[in-house]
Amino acid sequence: MPFPEEMSGDGISASIKHTMNALNPKEISEKAIGLIADRWMLVTAGTRERFNTMTANWGGMGYLWNKPVVFVFVRPNRYTFGFMEENETFTLSFLGEEYREALKICGSLSGRDTDKVTRAGLTPEFTAQGNVTFAQADMVLECRKLYTDMIRPERFLDPSPDTKWYSDGTYHKIYIAEITGAWKRK
Ligand SMILES: Cc1cc2nc3c(=O)[nH]c(=O)nc-3n(C[C@H](O)[C@H](O)[C@H](O)COP(=O)(O)O)c2cc1C
Repeated sequence: MPFPEEMSGDGISASIKHTMNALNPKEISEKAIGLIADRWMLVTAGTRERFNTMTANWGGMGYLWNKPVVFVFVRPNRYTFGFMEENETFTLSFLGEEYREALKICGSLSGRDTDKVTRAGLTPEFTAQGNVTFAQADMVLECRKLYTDMIRPERFLDPSPDTKWYSDGTYHKIYIAEITGAWKRK
């Protein structure tokens, strides 16, 4: 099965097949919490023609329902939220420290009114499934949504995170998703 850009022949962007090695999710050897908390990640959903990305550092990786999974939290007022809702899949892209500015741009501007991918100097790349990641990523996880729910104020056992993070009432939606593909830069 050819990769999408080989089918379309548009020559605009590369497939990650050429630049990354496939990785067994169970072999991911990064510092599990530091990777997300400190390096941050890009959550990207949509299609080659229409996608959006945002920086996130709340979430995690684990094992659930006998599957390797990620869980991420997206507030409904993010432009990315609509893309997360409309699509069955999304990617998590991890970039090196040299791209901190790009992550700051994607974490402060909205794709609603800015072409922040261009502003951040990021180059879209596509998986065989047609999911979007970036040439600057050194690790990419492709994820398929399994379960979603809203954070609910009445479920907090310790009220302090509610008070601290949700004073405006904009609760995150949680997405638990199977890691269906993982790659590391060659
Ligand atoms: C370090 C960092 C971490 C962030 N983590 C999250 C997160 O986990 N969930 C979330 O909804 N927003 C998070 N944000 C905020 C979004 O990235 C930000 O609101 C972004 O501009 C949304 O873009 P969009 O409107 O194009 O989706 C984070 C921002 C930064 C800088």
